[in-house]
Amino acid sequence: MASIESILTETRVFPPADAFARQANVSGMDGYEALCRQAESDYEGFWANLARQHIDWKKPFTRTLDESGAPFYKWFDDGELNVSYNCLDRHLASKGDKTALIFEADDGSVTQVTYKELHARVCQFANGLKSLGVEQGDRVIVYMPMSIEAVVAMQACARIGAIHSVVFGGFSAKSLFERIEDARAKVIVTADESLRGGKAVPLKHAVDEALAMGDTSCVERVVVYRRSGGDIAWGGRDLWWHELAQTQAETCEPVWVSAEHPLFILYTSGSTGKPKGVQHSTGGYLLGAMLSMLWVFDAKPDSDVYWCTADVGWITGHTYVAYGPLSLGMTEVIFEGIPTFPHAGRFWETVAKHKVTTFYTAPTAIRSLIKLGSDLPAQYDLSSLRLLGTVGEPINPEAWMWYQQVIGGGRCPVVDTWWQTETGSHMIAPLPGAVPTKPGSCTLPLPGIMAAITDEHGGPVEKGHGGFLVIQRPFPSQLRTLWGDPDRFRKTYFPEELGGKTYLAGDSAHRDDDGYFWIMGRIDDVLNVSGHRLGTMEIESALVANPRVAEAAVVGRPHEIKGEAVVAYVVLKGTRPVGEEAKKIVAELRDWVGKEIGPIAKPDEIRFGDNLPKTRSGKIMRRLLRAIAKGEEITQDVSTLENPAILDQLKEAVK
Ligand code: WTA
Repeated sequence: MASIESILTETRVFPPADAFARQANVSGMDGYEALCRQAESDYEGFWANLARQHIDWKKPFTRTLDESGAPFYKWFDDGELNVSYNCLDRHLASKGDKTALIFEADDGSVTQVTYKELHARVCQFANGLKSLGVEQGDRVIVYMPMSIEAVVAMQACARIGAIHSVVFGGFSAKSLFERIEDARAKVIVTADESLRGGKAVPLKHAVDEALAMGDTSCVERVVVYRRSGGDIAWGGRDLWWHELAQTQAETCEPVWVSAEHPLFILYTSGSTGKPKGVQHSTGGYLLGAMLSMLWVFDAKPDSDVYWCTADVGWITGHTYVAYGPLSLGMTEVIFEGIPTFPHAGRFWETVAKHKVTTFYTAPTAIRSLIKLGSDLPAQYDLSSLRLLGTVGEPINPEAWMWYQQVIGGGRCPVVDTWWQTETGSHMIAPLPGAVPTKPGSCTLPLPGIMAAITDEHGGPVEKGHGGFLVIQRPFPSQLRTLWGDPDRFRKTYFPEELGGKTYLAGDSAHRDDDGYFWIMGRIDDVLNVSGHRLGTMEIESALVANPRVAEAAVVGRPHEIKGEAVVAYVVLKGTRPVGEEAKKIVAELRDWVGKEIGPIAKPDEIRFGDNLPKTRSGKIMRRLLRAIAKGEEITQDVSTLENPAILDQLKEAVK
């Protein structure tokens, strides 16, 4: 991959500017190293102090870390708290009239809510959910557009101890159905339609379809927020958000839960066809969110205007939109639209309009904006910015440099944050007032995060050599289990080969002479397309579910903007199609995958063969398929293949 090549030769280093370091929450390498030393000398004491300092506990904890059920770790488990209380109530006295959310709608209209107003709305909706019979531990699916209401729904669940499971609005009815069924959700919160780039996306219609797909008798009510006013079908279990909420009281006593009570489930792709329900805790998760806001984003609640562009459907939109910024009492922008609507300067216009200080987005967005030219950002006043962040996929050094120079004016530190749905919060990222940055590296682990690189048996790997990225001690914000599948949790993340207690991230990485981490890519069959995780098996299962398809194999190919593109090799039940016929079937199969999973999973390319390259034992040779997708010469020995002749066929693109 070109980006891997370039990071191996990257030598630029950017130490923190003095002015930034002086005002930073953690200043200088000595500040960073002092925190790391505290964690090393008294691991539990380190986390316990931070948890006492930053979280308001209803009942203080006396136990910090319980490793007796490893790898099912517990943190602060006899303590009681409420996340919504920590995000809202505790700010009311000092900053009730401060703006909490600035909602920037698709069409550019702006709605602001103060902490007092947000608190009232969360309480009303929480009371509404209670009136529907939602109780502590019940699951609520949130299938919503980016909106104030999406945050209200999540916070309201947290307030009453209900477990939310947000499903990204771009997922299909089928994906939604699978998540409803797996979580056995009692209530679904959705909207009539979402609006993105001027186009309406029918959310309620997808819910109706999902509910007709199988046994969804668990779902008692569907609450519908009116966003677009578009036409929707209406049934017996549907009710309007405004009708449910408006008559409710504006206060609602939080339900105090154990620190280990599940705050949410979020489904993500893994190496099998079935998405995994990553389950997060209350106390440890909140602590990770708060500390990373303070450390990595150098959060200054009294002066920052913070904007994370992620959708609440992803983990970034949970930790760094719905919870982290509010837990610190910050003002944040929530963005409904897309970066290039109604014009290509939308992101930069929005930064200037709201005087954003802290901007967090994905490399794929940066790369697509680079394409549009540097004169575009120059048309807007970006001088309010003081810190830039990226997340979701490796950022190539060229894109990092453009971000730093053109958007940050050379003055803002760039924090490349490595973490995952499973880790809940940042794991490896620079503390911007302390750690010098290098374009393309996520730099060093956060204090207390014992990240390392090992070989497949958990043994050490020499500097400069690639290996498995692991975290060697439990940390507060890590996932607690996979919903309904503890066995898969243990096998996936704490494999016996590594001793059963080391967290296996699923990425490969190497460290340079300064100990900096450079992420190289996934070690499993997970693709990263525009920062979204997609399982190759998931797409394969979707393809073979089509009546025309006999067999399918999906691989990734480097893509200039999206990071990776999806390439599918398909064997049809009939004869191999060519010409117009092939084109027609390609279009049909892409649509099919869009309906099975969601538009983000549509293959960029589909090629047809009479067969797939397999070993004599029947294993599909994915390495070969990846090489073919990239257009590489095949140099390896193919004599062990069952059917070497097939390779020529698969080299042919459908034109
Ligand atoms: C990748 C997103 C390189 C990685 C927060 C990881 C990254 C997966 C980075 C998790 C980064 C995330 N540099 N790669 N800064 N951040 N990744 O669960 O492969 O959607 O395992 O969480 O994205 O994706 P997820």
